[in-house]
Amino acid sequence: MLVLGLSNMRDAAAALVSDGRIVAAAEEERFVRQKHVTALPVQAIRYCLREAGVALWDVEAIAVPWKYWQVGRRAWLALTSMMRSPQLFRVKGTRSLERMSREWMELGRLREALTRRVGVGATKPVFLDHHLCHAASSFLVSPFERSAILVVDGASEADTTLMAVGEGNQITVLDRTPLPHSLGQFYGAMTAFLGFRPDQDEYIVMGLASSGEPTFASALRRDIVRLLPRGRFELNVRLLDFHLARAGFFVEELVRLFGPQRRSCEEITQRHRDLAASAQVVLEETLLHLGRHVRTLTQAESLCLAGGVAYNCVANGRLRAELGFKAVYVPPAAGDSGAALGAALWWTARRGEATTRPLLPDAYWGPQFDEATCRIALSQAGLVAESLTDAQLYERVAAELARGRLVFWYQGRMEWGPRALGNRSLLADPRREDMRELINSKVKCREAFRPFAPSVLDDRAQEFFDLPAPSPFMQFTVRVKASAKGILPAVTHVDGTARVQTVTREANPRFYDLLATFGRLTGVPVLLNTSFNVQEPIVCSPDEAVRCFQRTQVEWLVLGNLLVGRSSSPSIPNHAC
Ligand SMILES: [Fe+2]
Repeated sequence: MLVLGLSNMRDAAAALVSDGRIVAAAEEERFVRQKHVTALPVQAIRYCLREAGVALWDVEAIAVPWKYWQVGRRAWLALTSMMRSPQLFRVKGTRSLERMSREWMELGRLREALTRRVGVGATKPVFLDHHLCHAASSFLVSPFERSAILVVDGASEADTTLMAVGEGNQITVLDRTPLPHSLGQFYGAMTAFLGFRPDQDEYIVMGLASSGEPTFASALRRDIVRLLPRGRFELNVRLLDFHLARAGFFVEELVRLFGPQRRSCEEITQRHRDLAASAQVVLEETLLHLGRHVRTLTQAESLCLAGGVAYNCVANGRLRAELGFKAVYVPPAAGDSGAALGAALWWTARRGEATTRPLLPDAYWGPQFDEATCRIALSQAGLVAESLTDAQLYERVAAELARGRLVFWYQGRMEWGPRALGNRSLLADPRREDMRELINSKVKCREAFRPFAPSVLDDRAQEFFDLPAPSPFMQFTVRVKASAKGILPAVTHVDGTARVQTVTREANPRFYDLLATFGRLTGVPVLLNTSFNVQEPIVCSPDEAVRCFQRTQVEWLVLGNLLVGRSSSPSIPNHAC
């Protein structure tokens, strides 16, 4: 059975599952070059169909991770704002209702839109519970036969968390937290208060948190987030009124409690760091509260996480360390793009079509391009490449990295999910103290406090990190071993932690061999690994890789086995922060 999962809300994406096996999955943002795009994922769908060699009329089910007619509670919350303040309703409630009605219309006309924009023969879509799709995106690809499941995001149709138990191909719902009490939107509100973009920049707040003290945590516990019995919590929605609209997350009362809101261009002060640390601590405490309850309910030995909050790898590290689960699984696409894959898997499971569970051993489900396409992209840009054997390539690249050079490393299928995991990566030597500044000056221009992540050979990870289990998708923060802190300054965060990717030969043989070669050369089989992009979605095609290379001062570009040096580029880098 061929099932297409698609999400046309924020983080639009498509995924194709054939007889319970994952064939392809990709986010629309990579094709249309707009981060977190909300759109019918036309390009991602076309890619998935192309990868399988099928047409839209061959697809037997189209699964969407939203029951769009069940968003009544959101509408009710918007309407009740009228009772609190007619002005508030006018400003926010109407905007919220407008948005919801637009989304309903788009989902209601999905089949028609697919026929018009992708191809004829689209079957009638099935609309599935959003949080169950998140749950499926994690549990159904996890290695566990039975597991507790915890989903936490901004909001589904009407809820903000889901607790469930997964057994075989079944998922049984145990509890939900209803709107407007949303942990995801609490963190989004604090992100906005700190001058960053809610729903986008939460990871920046997480990075900032480690350099602050949680001096505002008690005020947040007292006035904003209250823990309740049986794994419940509630927010003070008189202070956080995000459920009424996407803009304007809070009222002036917050300014009285925490001081003025930071504007995006303003300097970051210790108060901002402390606020970030406080929000992070309260988020972690609430997640632990939820996690303890789902453990009590299920008595399971493992936990599957999903939803946008599951990208908080610092919190994930605490959930793994402090709840007593033997293992915790977080898929590479834990947010709403992942729900598209979850929808396809959940529909397949519900129909009893999957005979075995489709494991997700790696994240490489996106498009790949052959050498001829790479050569065309290079020659159109006037770049000259050397063609090397695998062994020559690893030796050359490892030697250049060890000399402090930066390398754009482009290989095979694009990653599914927001992390670059060795196929669309910018690589550097993690041993150099000044590497962070060097990358920021040559390519990234990102906040100095934000850490870069390490990739390490799976079989040597224990030498450098306190790692209780493999971490193939960079979803957990762990402590850097005391003996390794001086060795890996560029990837050790200010609090002595790192967001590690462990690499096996099975998952990514080329990246594994490069790490091993670098390890033989330097004694340290670890590389700094950040995404191949500059203030845009991660590159998808060779054309985009070449353009990105030309806009930066990075010394080397690798496309498959083709190596291009900076000196071969005739273009003048025009990248500016
Ligand atoms: Fe979600």
